[in-house]
Amino acid sequence: MPEWLSNAVFYQIYPQSFKDSNEDGIGDINGIIEKLDYINSLGCNALWINPCFESPFKDGGYDVKDYKKVDPRYGSNTDLYRLFGEAHNRGIHVLLDLVPGHTSEEHPWFKESRKAQKNKYTNRYIWTDSCFHGADHMPFVAGESQRDGCYILNFFKCQPALNYGFLHPTEKWQLPMDHPDCIATREALKDVMRFWLDHGCDGFRVDMAHSLVKGDDENKSGTVSIWREVREMLDKDYPEAVIISEWSNPPQAVAAGFHSDFCLHMEGNGYSTLFRDYQNHTETDRKAGGIDRSFFKKDGHGDITRFLADYLPWYEKVNGKGYMSLTTGNHDTERMSYTLSQDELKIAYAFILTMPGVPFLYYGDEIGLKYQELANKEGGYNRTGSRTPMQWTEEKNKGFSDGCEDTLYLPVDLSPDAPTVEKQAKTQGSLLNTVKDLITLRHEKKDLQADGSFEVVYAEKEKFPFIYKRGNLIIAVNPSEEQAGIPNDVKNRKILYAIGKTEIYHHEGKMPPQSFLILE
Ligand code: GLC
Ligand code: CA
Repeated sequence: MPEWLSNAVFYQIYPQSFKDSNEDGIGDINGIIEKLDYINSLGCNALWINPCFESPFKDGGYDVKDYKKVDPRYGSNTDLYRLFGEAHNRGIHVLLDLVPGHTSEEHPWFKESRKAQKNKYTNRYIWTDSCFHGADHMPFVAGESQRDGCYILNFFKCQPALNYGFLHPTEKWQLPMDHPDCIATREALKDVMRFWLDHGCDGFRVDMAHSLVKGDDENKSGTVSIWREVREMLDKDYPEAVIISEWSNPPQAVAAGFHSDFCLHMEGNGYSTLFRDYQNHTETDRKAGGIDRSFFKKDGHGDITRFLADYLPWYEKVNGKGYMSLTTGNHDTERMSYTLSQDELKIAYAFILTMPGVPFLYYGDEIGLKYQELANKEGGYNRTGSRTPMQWTEEKNKGFSDGCEDTLYLPVDLSPDAPTVEKQAKTQGSLLNTVKDLITLRHEKKDLQADGSFEVVYAEKEKFPFIYKRGNLIIAVNPSEEQAGIPNDVKNRKILYAIGKTEIYHHEGKMPPQSFLILE
């Protein structure tokens, strides 16, 4: 396990929306370099940059056309190499986004694969043997190629699935995983990884990491074996490199060799009950104030045991072998600020930043950047509203770009209470300063870092507070607007850090409304 991970706090950057350095309205690599000092000042010591490779952008860059080339709208490979160096000078590690399951339909491999004549790339993607026969239980496209056959999709129509073979082929056209052409796909994947690692990148966030082997992949054992092979390569040749998966099944992902796996928002799972439990509400419901059962909503309809029911068994299985990553959000989820107020966000982030594993902060979440209701941009659909430009200052385009307003990748928030770094940096107790304080504390206290022990002290169905132990520290979380009692064995400890008014704790030994305490 690379040691740097044990104290990593990640910052996720959606490159097109972070900082535009050349006035074309689109964020770029040089813009990221300009803001490394800012990232450093937050206390974040690692970055994940969403795909910045050549792409037709039908899915925000997750449709890669050339894995080894930075898309010109972001700059050049040389700029990215410079970013690695500048980040390293500041003690910041950089993960790129690896998309192993599919390419863009415009990738040269696919252009070859769709040809009628057999060639080196014929089996690089998964094709049936007739355009009139699709595939069971797999999305496919027919009638689009000179080649007679349907090709399998991994996500959108523009994203044909790469062929890693089938664990148990059931049709003639399904190749076994050890077929030379499927092994060639694996080797191509490793070659891409080596390319960036050799140029100074520190690893990858891996997109849809669970999706490689199709058909009946018992307990994902086929897919797991591919990643084990990748991990062996890393351990041997790049022992400091890290891979973090989008899998959302930490025990499986860690068994596959990932250093950490994201706990992600999937409808109804434990993580989704924390911050965004309005999913079953219709839009009208929500606007009419339907009950939001998120644990971090102050109304107090939440229930931490729903989160723990998933999290604790996972923690038991991965502890000592790998990590889990809790995130404030990402480019696929509505920002928490959609439903949580700045006060609610402070407590939610305090929880994320004091849990074990490797936390991630999505750009803009540190100021509570708002989710905007916007039309689809580059395949974002309802995700588009979480991908708007970072808001730095009160100046033109909120300091994101000096270009014309109508060239901006997406609009900035022009409402009078729009959050900006400039405003919040000056305000004591702002969300931004709270995030900074929490990260500083995490760096100071080993107990709070990835490997610090974790134990639940008090968690009752539909009750507050939630109390857990990290090493010798006790952490108590009361997101509700009611006071809450504290068990006797936790009382009378010294407060190391607090959100909310602490008099009630000192005088009555209770948790104040909307509060968070770290006790020594
Ligand atoms: C992942 C990405 C998402 C993308 C999809 C297809 O879920 O996070 O943005 O659309 O994979 O690559
Ligand atoms: Ca630009």
